[in-house]
Amino acid sequence: MPMTRLLNAIAIAAMFVVLNGCLEQFDPAPTNKMFHAEYDQSKKVPENLSATGELPTPAVAVPIDQKFATFCASCHGPKGGGDGPAGVALDPKPRILSDKTWQASANDERIYSVIKNGGPSVGLAATMAPWGGVLNDAEIKEMIAFIRSL
Ligand code: HEC
Repeated sequence: MPMTRLLNAIAIAAMFVVLNGCLEQFDPAPTNKMFHAEYDQSKKVPENLSATGELPTPAVAVPIDQKFATFCASCHGPKGGGDGPAGVALDPKPRILSDKTWQASANDERIYSVIKNGGPSVGLAATMAPWGGVLNDAEIKEMIAFIRSL
């Protein structure tokens, strides 16, 4: 019965077409693609961090006088005159950093210790806070030179 065979063949072929259409809806590929995209994203280093997770050295270095203005001038005054607004109420008063007599009496090691570890590291008041978490070694050395230039 060739006619029946032909119909069977057509029916089977039609079933494959329908089945294939159904399977496309369950195609796992789109989900996989999504996971891959998320995985790739998770491996990307955030743009503002270095590959090891540190903040990059800024392309434009902040000059030391600007750092002094930001971190120190509020107490020590814009020119180191000891007249910063936040220093007015303090007792003892912030050091007059431009005072050449004081500068001559304080060596670099002492000033380094005060800036890095705070006043108490050399027996001064704790209102002179430690800046070691903000300024690195090179910056503290630059700061000492800046203070001596005041
Ligand atoms: C909150 C106010 C305040 C800020 C901000 C501050 N200081 Fe001071 N600093 C003081 C006070 C108060 C003293 C004096 C402490 C004393 O005489 O016991 C002092 C003392 C000093 C001294 C003198 C140490 C000595 O041998 O007599 C140096 C140097 C100094 N500060 C540097 C800095 C630098 C650099 C910064 C910024 C990174 C800074 N300070 C920020 C309050 C401040």
